Amino acid sequence: MNPNAFFNMSYGVYIASSINGDKINAHIVNAVMQTTSSPATFCLASNKNNLTCEYIQQSKVFAVSVVDNDADMKFIGRFGFRTGRDIDKFDGIKYRIGQTGAPIVLEHTVAFVECKVINQIDLGSHILFVGEVVDADNIAEGKPLTYADYHNVKKGLSPKNAPTYIEKPKA
Ligand SMILES: Cc1cc2nc3c(=O)[nH]c(=O)nc-3n(C[C@H](O)[C@H](O)[C@H](O)COP(=O)(O)O)c2cc1C
Repeated sequence: MNPNAFFNMSYGVYIASSINGDKINAHIVNAVMQTTSSPATFCLASNKNNLTCEYIQQSKVFAVSVVDNDADMKFIGRFGFRTGRDIDKFDGIKYRIGQTGAPIVLEHTVAFVECKVINQIDLGSHILFVGEVVDADNIAEGKPLTYADYHNVKKGLSPKNAPTYIEKPKA
């Protein structure tokens, strides 16, 4: 098996967010897709070690904010390489609370979808959450960032908790 074939799959780059009581958190996710149109559903895969995964399991809601092409690595790194266990990821970030209570990121984003969880599958390392859409809208003009541009233009890496992470063989 050649796992490099997986890199020819296309994805976007998103911020998946959720709540736990009055606390909010979010992480970068590429593993998001629309699964049905009527009713509209989306799924996302979140690593069990991610704080956001705990929040989604607990609250049964999530929002997905679509990251734009202009987002820099500092912005992506705050949500994708740091954990909410160590920092307040929303400190200084423009956001609003959506209908589900989950935060919607309003900078470097072009659209959002908010969902309530209707099903979930334990995949070992990750949980696949299936959510029915509660609200969605465009946020700003701009182009959504593709996962290919994240790698090829922004030279971004896939961290260990991303489903696309491939461990380098030991030299
Ligand atoms: C480009 C990129 C894609 C990622 N995709 C996923 C993903 O699909 N699922 C996932 O669980 N984590 C993914 N991650 C990793 C999480 O964003 C990362 O583990 C984050 O620090 C978790 O934060 P938290 O503990 O505050 O929830 C990705 C990170 C990056 C930078």
